[in-house]
Amino acid sequence: MPVKNRFAEMQEEITKWRRHLHENPELLYEVHKTAAFVVERLKDIGLDESAITTGIGRTGVVAVIEGKTNTSGRVIGLRADMDALPITEASGVDYPSKTPGVMHACGHDGHTAILLGAAKYLSETRNFDGKVVLIFQPAEEGGAGGKAMCDDGLMDRWGIQEVYGLHNMPGLPVGQFAVRPGALLASSDEFEITVTGKGGHAAAPHDAIDTTLVASQIVVSLHSIVSRNVNPVKRVVLTVGTFETDSTASNVIAHQARLQGTVRTLDTEYRQLAEGWVRQIAENVAAAYGATAEVEWTPGYPVTINTPDETQYAVEAARAVSAHVDDDTDPILPSEDFAYMLEERPGAYIFLGNGDTAMCHHPAYVFDDEAIPVGCSWFAELVERRMPAA
Ligand code: NI
Repeated sequence: MPVKNRFAEMQEEITKWRRHLHENPELLYEVHKTAAFVVERLKDIGLDESAITTGIGRTGVVAVIEGKTNTSGRVIGLRADMDALPITEASGVDYPSKTPGVMHACGHDGHTAILLGAAKYLSETRNFDGKVVLIFQPAEEGGAGGKAMCDDGLMDRWGIQEVYGLHNMPGLPVGQFAVRPGALLASSDEFEITVTGKGGHAAAPHDAIDTTLVASQIVVSLHSIVSRNVNPVKRVVLTVGTFETDSTASNVIAHQARLQGTVRTLDTEYRQLAEGWVRQIAENVAAAYGATAEVEWTPGYPVTINTPDETQYAVEAARAVSAHVDDDTDPILPSEDFAYMLEERPGAYIFLGNGDTAMCHHPAYVFDDEAIPVGCSWFAELVERRMPAA
């Protein structure tokens, strides 16, 4: 089961695009040059200016490719993310980032190039009955750019009925795919707990309320949420990442402490419950010692949930491209803001093998350009199978 021949021919060109993007990484919503590059390529491949819209979700780009016919009335969204990470590159590639401290360490340069490659093919052939909406989004890395595009009316304005995206996956051999129906990536919420006791002299604890001790008890107690409150067959992770107090000396009892942490889950109902449990434990443990705890809860990305039918379409397209498609892969606990698009429309998110490299977000991470024709073929197969030419 091969990649489409046209993509094998185009691989060198798409690789050049990818490496250009790699050399010029931009953060969050500041993807101005990247978005301009996307627009230029879309024009080069023959899309009319009227089919391209910029500034959706601040710096996102949306473009439409019409099939030869449109009797199906079907509209499919294909999404790529464009932003990089604040990481100093140590990948050793001969086309490194030209921007100090910024690196495409998650392969979004590859995703953008792959969607551009698919767009070139779909624009040349138009061998489908319906409409494709290309979605190039900013700020996937913590900025909720996908939500910003949805808030700008992405789904309704372009009449998108279903939506698909891919992410490269280090550790999965190049040429392979992995996906599953249901939850694929976790939600990610953050909390900050400010604990206030009563500072004092280390030698007179009876005159103080030892905030460090109280905050320590809170940390320990929070871990009972995952082990005791959560149904053991469900997946929830709670991590306290920071613990700071206002004491700067070994002989001072802290007055205030600040804990920061994250709760991730594959179960939407546990997002709500976890917030309540964190508040309950923090406030009541503090109260037991005569201290107070204030909890600030910041909701992050939702659970990425693939819908069953669309996952099946994604699997069928992947099987047309590759002999190795895992349609029941284990979910993972990072989060992904494609989740916002999947909250608005049915769709599927699939992992594309990126071979043996450092994990995403590592300074030594390398995107494998051999994955390009595989990813392009998947998008193209999906379109041609889901909207067969009339
Ligand atoms: Ni990513």
